[in-house]
Amino acid sequence: MDVNTDKLNSFMGKMVGDFGSAMNASLMLIGDQLGLYKALAAKGPMNGRELAQATGTSERYVREWLAAQAASGYVEYDAASEKFSMQPEQALALADEDSPFFMGGIGDLVAATFLDEPKVADAFKTGKGVGWNKRSECLFCGTARFFRTGYKHHLVQEWLPALDGVVAKLERGAKVADVGCGHGVSTRLMAQAFPNSRFFGFDYHEGSIDAARKAARDAGLGDRMRFEVHSAKTYPAEGYDLVCFFDCLHDMGDPVGAMKHVRETMADDGTCMLVEPFAGDRLEDNLNPVGRVYYAASTMICTPASLDQEVGMALGAQAGEARLREVARQGGLTRFRRATETPFNLILEARA
Ligand SMILES: C[S@@+](CC[C@H](N)C(=O)[O-])C[C@H]1O[C@@H](n2cnc3c(N)ncnc32)[C@H](O)[C@@H]1O
Repeated sequence: MDVNTDKLNSFMGKMVGDFGSAMNASLMLIGDQLGLYKALAAKGPMNGRELAQATGTSERYVREWLAAQAASGYVEYDAASEKFSMQPEQALALADEDSPFFMGGIGDLVAATFLDEPKVADAFKTGKGVGWNKRSECLFCGTARFFRTGYKHHLVQEWLPALDGVVAKLERGAKVADVGCGHGVSTRLMAQAFPNSRFFGFDYHEGSIDAARKAARDAGLGDRMRFEVHSAKTYPAEGYDLVCFFDCLHDMGDPVGAMKHVRETMADDGTCMLVEPFAGDRLEDNLNPVGRVYYAASTMICTPASLDQEVGMALGAQAGEARLREVARQGGLTRFRRATETPFNLILEARA
């Protein structure tokens, strides 16, 4: 075997970096859950004793955690004062829940892939699926928090205005279905922005619908929002002006059936908005850092979810626009265009 030493060293460097990221994922979860990032961002510079006192945690653990964070480049260390702090950029990503760059919630998503790994490994052998309803609890909150960042900063501001004539309808008073709504983050954001409209959230996962109902009540939006347990092929027809699928069509077993149901339940001049993970049409277009995250999530979460359902089309999280267009066309939604995009999402408009 002809081994190139430079290439080998460079690959080993990459592997050590990846090993470090994987080992530090649970530390990120702990920092998020125990409020360590938020306290350090708000009150730093601090040493381990001060951060432990501020968060009601044990100093020895916090000292070790801080050292790992500094080695990760997630916090700064000043050797002269022996104190740690966060730069504004680090705080935006890890400590500020409302920032457009917040990624502090991803620890739960990573945890879910490890907790459910035995089920998925078994599914590799049998070819069967692992349904959304058989997953670890932290997957649901992790998903809601991860996607919230993009929805909060883009949905009302850019995505809805990119659809033809939809904002005017929402302002006048429209009926909106949010299919596969999960915890209903997207549904609440739309309901808050458009007080004349009514919103219906559907998801086949009972626990998510319970969480969505509670969050709607807590936000005082209960009178204009209804959440019901329904699959994408069974929710009731209401002549919706807008039917949305946020990061969920590719999780469904029968996305063509879901599009047919949209056609049957939507108003004749209604719009279907598909928000899907950003992807090019060819595998080679997606061999980049975003594709890396999504292919992994797809293997561990989305593909098993789809294979658990009827048809089991398993589009995958990197389906790309051309395949999604074909799914919509087969469902009877023939007018199709890319309305807009972000680094993480494609926003597609489908109409009859
Ligand atoms: C990745 S999560 C996205 C949740 C939510 N839309 C969001 O963006 O936070 C996918 C959601 O699709 C739901 N789902 C999967 N298959 C479904 C089906 N056939 N009918 C209805 N919901 C489905 C899951 O229960 C889950 O809540």
